[in-house]
Amino acid sequence: MAASTDAHHLTVKAVQALLHTRAFGRMLRLVPEIPSTNSAAMSLALEGAPQGTAVAADKQTAGRGRLGRRWFSPAGENLYCSVILRQPRSPEHLGLWLPWVPLLSAIAVVRAIERVAGFRPSLKWPNDILIDRQKLGGLLCESTGPRTGGTVVVVGIGLNVNSRPETFPADLRDGSTSLAAEAGRSFDRALVLATILDEMEDASDRLLGGAPEGFVREYSAFCATLGQRVRVSHADGRMIEGVALSIGPDGALHIAQDESEAGGMLAVHAGDVIHLR
Ligand code: BTN
Repeated sequence: MAASTDAHHLTVKAVQALLHTRAFGRMLRLVPEIPSTNSAAMSLALEGAPQGTAVAADKQTAGRGRLGRRWFSPAGENLYCSVILRQPRSPEHLGLWLPWVPLLSAIAVVRAIERVAGFRPSLKWPNDILIDRQKLGGLLCESTGPRTGGTVVVVGIGLNVNSRPETFPADLRDGSTSLAAEAGRSFDRALVLATILDEMEDASDRLLGGAPEGFVREYSAFCATLGQRVRVSHADGRMIEGVALSIGPDGALHIAQDESEAGGMLAVHAGDVIHLR
């Protein structure tokens, strides 16, 4: 199957014609090439861009993944988009809002894919988008930290839409997939992006009114990590193994550690999770 290049369809006009949102994507900057849409969106946020402002690019020259990895970002095939979310209310609300933004945003992307493609990916905690064990996309969330006017989170979404996995760099080839590879047809990136922005606005609205129990239930239904044997690598090099049991009210992954290690339950708030067979 040839990779479809729908570059001429990914325009602000095409995306906005398909939007059903109040705010998300109504301010949309779409550029042919950029180092990283996350960096550009963060600059716009610091200049005061409103909630729901989005930056998308046809190609990234320095696309960034989680944990300092690069994000393969060729032109004309996939989606690279970053959306600005602003802390909604009082400082007390921040403690619930901040950890759930990445997780509910990941759900938004999964729901959008289900609407557009008709199949439902799963999530590897915290926000890797998988089909079976292959990576379809991921989210990189970066925040300003508390500041006057409230914390800002930039949610960066990378989604393999029309790429052929065999064209990926060797180290990514085996573990990656795309919507087109899964469906056997190409997808209109404008429609995929507009649907993601619709779902992101919905998720952001739920975050305002919701309670942690509801978020835990919703996220758990999409999370392929639960019930799996996992290895978690922390940024400082520590590693633990065990079984992923549940999601906490703060979005943490609860792991029953192996006896050989410290034993007992551990709440993981950040780190890289590998699903072991
Ligand atoms: C991951 O490591 O799984 C997260 C990948 C996030 C990639 C996206 S592409 C759009 C945005 N801009 C970036 O530089 N990174 C994110």
